[in-house]
Amino acid sequence: MDLYEYQARDLFEKYEVPVLAGIIADTPEEAKAAAEKIGGVVVVKAQVKTGGRGKAGGVKVAKTPDEAYAAAEAILGLDIKGHVVQRVMVAQGADIAEEFYFSVLLDRSNRSYLSLCSVEGGMEIEELAVERPEALARVEVDPLQGIDKAKAVEIATAANFPEDLVDKVSDVFVKLYDVYKGEGATLVEVNPLVRTGAGDIVALDGKVSLDENASEVRHPEHEELEDKSAADPLEAKAKASGLNYVKLDGQVGIIGNGAGLVMSTLDVVAYAGENHGGVTPANFLDIGGGANAQVMASGLDVILGDEQVKSVFVNVFGGITSCVAVAEGIVKALEILGDAATKPLVVRLDGNQVEEGRAILAEANHPLVTLAAGMDEGADKAAELANA
Ligand SMILES: Nc1ncnc2c1ncn2[C@@H]1O[C@H](COP(=O)(O)OP(=O)(O)O)[C@@H](O)[C@H]1O
Ligand SMILES: [Mg+2]
Repeated sequence: MDLYEYQARDLFEKYEVPVLAGIIADTPEEAKAAAEKIGGVVVVKAQVKTGGRGKAGGVKVAKTPDEAYAAAEAILGLDIKGHVVQRVMVAQGADIAEEFYFSVLLDRSNRSYLSLCSVEGGMEIEELAVERPEALARVEVDPLQGIDKAKAVEIATAANFPEDLVDKVSDVFVKLYDVYKGEGATLVEVNPLVRTGAGDIVALDGKVSLDENASEVRHPEHEELEDKSAADPLEAKAKASGLNYVKLDGQVGIIGNGAGLVMSTLDVVAYAGENHGGVTPANFLDIGGGANAQVMASGLDVILGDEQVKSVFVNVFGGITSCVAVAEGIVKALEILGDAATKPLVVRLDGNQVEEGRAILAEANHPLVTLAAGMDEGADKAAELANA
């Protein structure tokens, strides 16, 4: 379950992550009252469960309560990537000197955690991974060790934070990890984490995904955070199937297992696309650890439902789930989908029982499927097919 920004902000506050004042409002009148209460410059922000609100006109600065009223009037009812805004948050305005990026997430394929961090924040992470992969540090986090001060310093250093900021930001990383661990989250992301003119480090936008499986057991209070309405139809479909899916603007559909592997796949596809008419990834889809036939079918179904997709790159590393199970999953998924499967699929398998898995796909000899030996080769083929 993804939380709204204001819910993430509240959790951050509980764990002493530095945040600014924020009050939710469902009407322009409430927004005006909130702005009066906070005082000074405020920012009126659409509360929808999708990124890129800023670009879509869903984040507006207001210097007076009347401006906050007008901003809320403009934002409420706005459609942002299929999400209609029903609520805004009026947030205290920050004097931003620099914007950074930080996240910690569950990396299922490695049964580990992964921290992503960059001194180039603001842009959406999937875009940053595609456009500036070299600016994004990826640091594996041992679940037993977590992010203690030493690990946090390692992350800040890997992300090229200037020496005088490492100490300050690493304290915040430790607290953000407390949120991740304490709430049983699968993702805690701050984008942007900012340095203000006064030199403070503040989390200006937060995204938290909670582990639904853990919710009933350890966190009964999470039930209250859920909201059953609003969602992009493809994202809703993916979520209903338990998939971690994010829509992007490109043409090459991506399916992988494990957030780390999917992130790297985005990189190589974007890179390969430069040689094939500039095609880029169409989505981020992590099918997680259990890549059986049904999961693969749901994943393919979601991606093929995106009209922009011209080809699909399946990049799976067999771990607990062997390549045999994955290959059988792909063959069965194509059977299940039947005529609904229309776009070429490039498949790269590696890891546990890779030879047997490839043999199953070779044997099935499906006209839409191309086998790739390696990740670069597969990305190149998928980009070529998308551009055909
Ligand atoms: N409280 C705030 N004060 C000043 N600027 C803000 C504030 N919140 C957001 N912004 C600016 O708006 C941009 C987009 O807001 P953000 O909350 O990250 O939404 P999204 O990621 O959905 O676009 C941020 O990168 C930041 O520059
Ligand atoms: Mg943001």
